[in-house]
This record gives sequence, structure tokens and C-alpha cells, in this order.
Amino acid sequence: MSIRTPLIAGNWKMNKTASEGAELARAIAASVGIESAVQVVICPPFTALASVSTAVEGTHLAIGAQNMHDKVNGAFTGEISAAMLRNLHVTHVILGHSERRSLFGEDDAFINRKVLAALEASLKPILCVGELLSEREAGTTQEVVRRQVEKGLAGVPAGKSDQVIIAYEPVWAIGTGKTATPAMAQEVHAFIRQLLTKQFGAEAAARIRILYGGSMKPDNADALLAEHDIDGGLIGGASLEAKSFVDLVRSAAKSLTR
Ligand code: PGA
Repeated sequence: MSIRTPLIAGNWKMNKTASEGAELARAIAASVGIESAVQVVICPPFTALASVSTAVEGTHLAIGAQNMHDKVNGAFTGEISAAMLRNLHVTHVILGHSERRSLFGEDDAFINRKVLAALEASLKPILCVGELLSEREAGTTQEVVRRQVEKGLAGVPAGKSDQVIIAYEPVWAIGTGKTATPAMAQEVHAFIRQLLTKQFGAEAAARIRILYGGSMKPDNADALLAEHDIDGGLIGGASLEAKSFVDLVRSAAKSLTR
């Protein structure tokens, strides 16, 4: 049995107002609010963090943000700091999502600064990595993932490695309905764990959760979550409805009994 607690995280992206978010969070909490075998994190947009945080108070659900700035405060119009997130009971933060990388020009160095700032503020970073379709076709998947993991985690102190979560999200699978096969995903997850072993040692690497993301749905989750190095999911589309998201949490709970 794995020593890693499975984690299912919902990335709502730019969806749900504050009130819609609170409603969805309440519906999720009503079904999985006391499920303790699986860690569940929901990541609403910034504007819904406060209402969602209130809605899940006293439940097992944790709250994540979808991004943050690396500086503590200052003249950064439109940005949000780690302390602002912590103040709203946020415990996790998605960093380096492929949409941030491709649409907003975030590079590995900037993402690395955010990872370090998140850890400094006791937020758990969910560092997203993954190759484009053209990179997979060119046979450079490992090279790309290696660069993103090594640069993204540069300077992370060994004592904080257990706070880090990685999400492997092949870009060609995000929001497309195309999923990596369980074997394809497992191969990259095992490779990521080798990279983590190199940086932090085998014992610490064995504790770090590596999530799969990219069109994970109730009908493909069991097979993905059965793989040895797939420790949960970062869910986009299927996290926007309570039923499909809760089904994914249940799949992760089931994966523990196999
Ligand atoms: P998807 O998104 O589940 O809609 O493919 C995953 C993500 O972008 O985190």
C-alpha cells in the first residue's frame, strides 16, 4: 500500500462567481466533507476564495488558489501575495499551470520564485509540468519535464520537500478529452519520481504526491489511479460539477483498497 495519501484537486479556472462557488463547495462538502482517506482541495478563482472558504469551514475540504505572485507586497497591480491567500485559509496554490506558461508568458525562473515564496509562507505548491503535443511527437517529453521539474524546484530545501506536490499534465490532454493512457502517464510519473529522488533522496521522493491532470473523468480515473506513481488528480472540467468531482474522490478512495 502506498505511503502517500491520495489527493484530488479541482482547478475551477475562470469559472464560478463567489456565490456560485460557495454553492458548489457546499454540494461537494456534503458528499465528501468527512472523507478522510483522500485529501480534497478545491481551487476557485481569487474572487470566490472568501465565500468558498466560509462554505467549507469545519469540513475536510482544503482550499487552493490558482496562482500567486512571488513578492510579499508592493507595486504589482493586479497581483495577489501568499499572505493574502493564507489570510483566507488557503493552504495550497497551483503554480506553473500550462495556461499560465503559454497564455501569460510565465517561465521556469518566475515559477521557481513563486514555489519558493509559497513554501516560505507555508503554502503547499502544486507545481504543474507537462509537454506539448509537438514535444511528445518530437520525442522530447522527458527533456521538457526534466527542465520544468529541476528549474521549478531549484533551491527547495530538503526539509520542505514533503510540502511539494507535482502535477503532470500533458498539455495536449488538457480540456481536449484526450487522456494519456495509464501506461503513458505512469512512465512520466516514474521519471518524475526519479528526478525527485536525485534532488531529495529516495525516502523523501517516495512521500511526494504526483498528480495526473488532463481530461481525468470518472470513466478513466480508476485505471489512471491504479498506477503505482499516480497519487491523485488535478481536475479541470470534471471539477465544475459536484457529481463528477465527488465520483473522482471516490475513485481515489477505491484505489487505496486495491
Ligand atoms: P481538464 O483540466 O481536466 O479540463 O483537462 C486539467 C487542468 O488544466 O488542470
